[in-house]
This record gives sequence, structure tokens and C-alpha cells, in this order.
Amino acid sequence: MRVVVITGASAGIGAAIARELARRGDSLVLAARTADALQHVASEIASPTHVVAADVTRRADVERIRDEALRAFGHVDVWINNAGRGIVRPVLELSDEDVDEMIAVNVKSALYGMQAITPHFIERGHGHIVNMSSFLGRVPVATPRSAYNAAKSALNALTANARVDLKRTHPGIHVSLVMPGLVTTDFAKNARGSTGATPAAAIGSPMKPQTAEEVAAVVADVIDRPVAEVYTNPASATLAARYFDDVGRFEAEALARG
Ligand SMILES: NC(=O)c1ccc[n+]([C@@H]2O[C@H](COP(=O)([O-])OP(=O)(O)OC[C@H]3O[C@@H](n4cnc5c(N)ncnc54)[C@H](OP(=O)(O)O)[C@@H]3O)[C@@H](O)[C@H]2O)c1
Repeated sequence: MRVVVITGASAGIGAAIARELARRGDSLVLAARTADALQHVASEIASPTHVVAADVTRRADVERIRDEALRAFGHVDVWINNAGRGIVRPVLELSDEDVDEMIAVNVKSALYGMQAITPHFIERGHGHIVNMSSFLGRVPVATPRSAYNAAKSALNALTANARVDLKRTHPGIHVSLVMPGLVTTDFAKNARGSTGATPAAAIGSPMKPQTAEEVAAVVADVIDRPVAEVYTNPASATLAARYFDDVGRFEAEALARG
């Protein structure tokens, strides 16, 4: 029996991952702040599921997710740091509170998760950490997301460093980074400073939005066949290559297109 912990499982991508993994036969631990919404997701799932109301910006809450998962199922195979939140605020208007929240919910949450579960994975000799980042953490094309882009970039770096460190000493432990593009969840509406459901404008991005189910299918495949990194949107790799080929040209062309 494979046991998977998913943070941010009460809605959007996390809930879709829960439904997809349950279909594939996994037992699940679902965590988020809203207990009712978690119970609702759990009620739609046929496989064994344990629900934990927790705020992943608090280290003690994340450690409690681990403890409850081990108490409920005896072991954990996969830990998905999926909880996250966006922002709508340009760089020059960012407050200390804006930056602190983006770092807490998008970076520290995953750091706490990695630090909480890794000793268990080391003890067992295997395990898999999956960190949910964003294409914006690799290529910051949506300028109003500013501190969110920065936070996801930090998450990308921590994920890569953890992967290499663990691979050196514990080759049975995998660390994967997932970078979706635009996904049709309530993410934009839930963003700090959002005034509605309109996504933040992205410069030079012709990317078609994906559904949470499409992203969940990619995540499930990553768990079956671990890779270092994956873009969930087929358009992302080409766009990233164009961006890194010449950042100045990419930005100038995007601005010229308006
Ligand atoms: N949608 C997109 O366009 C998109 C694109 C790229 C990457 N992503 C990433 O995908 C992940 C999921 O986003 P989504 O689209 O599913 O957004 P969403 O619909 O807003 O869902 C966010 C989830 O995170 C949980 N959450 C937020 N703050 C939390 C906290 N402090 N503690 C515990 N749980 C918390 C929410 O539950 P509660 O409110 O109940 O706590 C909810 O379950 C995020 O990391 C996001 O950055 C999204």
C-alpha cells in the first residue's frame, strides 16, 4: 500500500491529485486549513484517507501532519508539498507583509515538509518528495505576481539542492519539482491582493491554461516514474528556452506585442 501525503488538498490541484491517486489505489493523507473542504474531498474518494487540518506556514503543524500520517498508516511513501498562494502586487508596491507571506506559504511550507519527512525516508531507505512550484518560478513572465515568482524561484533552488544532497547519500530518495503554467483553479481569485478571478497578465506567454486534472495526471506519472523536474504544460519548455536564450530580447519582443 503506497501512502501519499498531499498539502493544499482541500481544493484545486491538490484535490485533483487526491482523486487521481485514489483512482490509482493509493492511501492518502490530505492536509489544508479548511477541515470541511478536506472532509468533502475525502468523502469523494474510495481509498483509505486521513484528513489533517493544518496551516503549513507553521512548522509544528507540518510536523503534526507527519505524525498523524505515521499514526494512521505506519509509513509514508510520497510527500507532496502542494499548498501555495499567489499575489497581485508589482515589485515597487510590495510591503514586508506581502513578501513574508509569499515566502512563508510557498517556500517555508515546503522546507518544513522536506525537513519533517526526510528522516523517515532515510530510515526506510526510500521515499519521494514532490514540490509544487510554477513555471513563474523558472520564467517570471507575470510581473504582477512579483513576490510569488520570487518565492517559487527560491523553492526551485531549495528543491534542486535537496535532491542532489540526498541523491549523494541516499539514492533511494527522490526529490521532484513540478512546474505548471496557468491552471483553471481558484488560485487567481485566492491570491493576496486579488480583486477577482482574472489571472495576472503574462508577457510573451501563448500558454493554453490546463485543468487541475491534467496537472494531477502529470504528478501521478512523476510519482510512478520519478524525474528531477517537469513542466506540466507542453508549451513551457520552448518558452523557457526562448527566454534563457536572450532575456532582453524576450522582454523587448513581449512588450512590443503589448
Ligand atoms: N492555478 C495555477 O495557475 C497554478 C500554476 C502554477 C502553480 N500553481 C501551484 O499549485 C499549487 C496549488 O494551487 P491551486 O491552483 O490548487 O490553488 P488553490 O485552488 O487556491 O488551492 C490552494 C490550496 O492550498 C491550500 N493552502 C493555502 N494556504 C495554506 C496554508 N497556509 N496551509 C495549508 N494549506 C494552505 C488551500 O487550502 P485552505 O485554504 O483550506 O488552507 C488549497 O487547498 C500552489 O502551490 C500553486 O502555487 C498553481
